[in-house]
Amino acid sequence: MTTPFPETMDFNGYNAPSRVECDVFDLVVEGNLPAEINGSWYQCAPDPQYPPMLGQDTYLSGDGMVRLLRFQDGHVDLKQRYIRTQRFKNERHARRSLHGLYRNPYTDDPSVRGQGRGANNTTPIFHGGRLLALKEDSRAVEVHPETLETIGDWDYRGRLRSETMTAHTRLDPETGELYFFGYEASGLASRDVAFCVADANGELTREEWFQVPYCSMMHDFAVSREHVIFPVFPTTADLDRIKKGGPHWIWEPGKDSFVGIMPRAGTVSDMRWFRGPARSAYHFMNAHTEGNRVHLDFGCGNVNPFPFIREAGGIQVRPEEMKGNFVRWTFDLSKRGETWDEQILGPSGDLPRIAEKDFMKAYQVGYYQAFDPEVGPPLIAGPVGAGFNTILRLKVASGELKRLPMDQRSTAQEHAHIPSRVPGHEGYLLFLVDRHDEFLSEAFIVEAEHLDRGPIARVKIPLRLRVGVHGNWVPAAALRQVV
Ligand SMILES: [Fe+2]
Repeated sequence: MTTPFPETMDFNGYNAPSRVECDVFDLVVEGNLPAEINGSWYQCAPDPQYPPMLGQDTYLSGDGMVRLLRFQDGHVDLKQRYIRTQRFKNERHARRSLHGLYRNPYTDDPSVRGQGRGANNTTPIFHGGRLLALKEDSRAVEVHPETLETIGDWDYRGRLRSETMTAHTRLDPETGELYFFGYEASGLASRDVAFCVADANGELTREEWFQVPYCSMMHDFAVSREHVIFPVFPTTADLDRIKKGGPHWIWEPGKDSFVGIMPRAGTVSDMRWFRGPARSAYHFMNAHTEGNRVHLDFGCGNVNPFPFIREAGGIQVRPEEMKGNFVRWTFDLSKRGETWDEQILGPSGDLPRIAEKDFMKAYQVGYYQAFDPEVGPPLIAGPVGAGFNTILRLKVASGELKRLPMDQRSTAQEHAHIPSRVPGHEGYLLFLVDRHDEFLSEAFIVEAEHLDRGPIARVKIPLRLRVGVHGNWVPAAALRQVV
């Protein structure tokens, strides 16, 4: 017998675990689906099989579910499967949760000590002919891009030394190389970071280790054509605390933020460190280098957005005290000193995405999400609490904004960008919409340049897809080469 899930934000309402593996063919489509949209959209979602062993847990611990919306000649099919991680298999065998606190193996059931506990629930990427499910606390798991069956752990043919691989990799669209890193590379709470590159065929070509000033939850990084940028914000880990059964992460606003910048043509020994006050960010829109100046664009906050991480650090923050902006930090490598300049580009927000053609270089347009209280009251959706209810298109040079608000009963999940083959066309955004009134999901397709006009096509999904984390679009032509 399985007990109920806790009645907390992480497990209730739209955040209730789904635990549904399914195939639904020929979803109903309203509107006009452009014929050029052919390919697969993959998304990872945390979706716990069992209620937490310790009675409480965070959304982020859930077993990895990977979902696929396949667009083929005007038809859209849905497939959703659990990733068969070691964690998943152990728990299914025991018919209960065997893992304790988020990323604290010292709180696990003795029967699984020393075994893999990665949930691989954050990002699916397609690179080198492989679909990889990623979460930053462990290595990748390979999943079949058509059947979504789990193939197994992926460690670059035994070559990757880092024990972890970030869920936020950076593709170089000119070379096909994948830039990534792993923090806590040598184990829990270690200060070791592995900087890695895989070539277009998915073979590991670089792995260089360096140390950060303190162990930080380094969720993302950024790469320009000339530089690699590693921001370090004070969400920190401590091995003694973890060994005593405490939280892996706490927010420590008394510590400074650091940003390490190295030339791509150099090595990690060329890293230069910049230093500033405590800030928090999880995702970076883009970076580009202009002469001696390196620009980094992102949604920047004054506190960690996750309540369980703030509260573990003893920090109580009312929502109105959480401040942020969408900013550009500029680092002038020709000057001495540790500081950077900040320019405000737009209102606070997160989940930034740009067109793949613009990765790593100067660009005009980006898209990100925000919670706008004028659109409607907060609706619980996803890991940080209130889901986003507005998608923004930002022209970074002028600050011009276009907005697509959801209705009062809906939240948006992360959008992916789909390029268009039509010259001058800005492409499309694809994202799930959580319908809190119907307890169902839809997928919206909007024209990226005209997102304020609303969806040109809506794909109706006859069930609730638990809020996912990140997704990526893979064109059909890229998949045909391997499937
Ligand atoms: Fe992320």
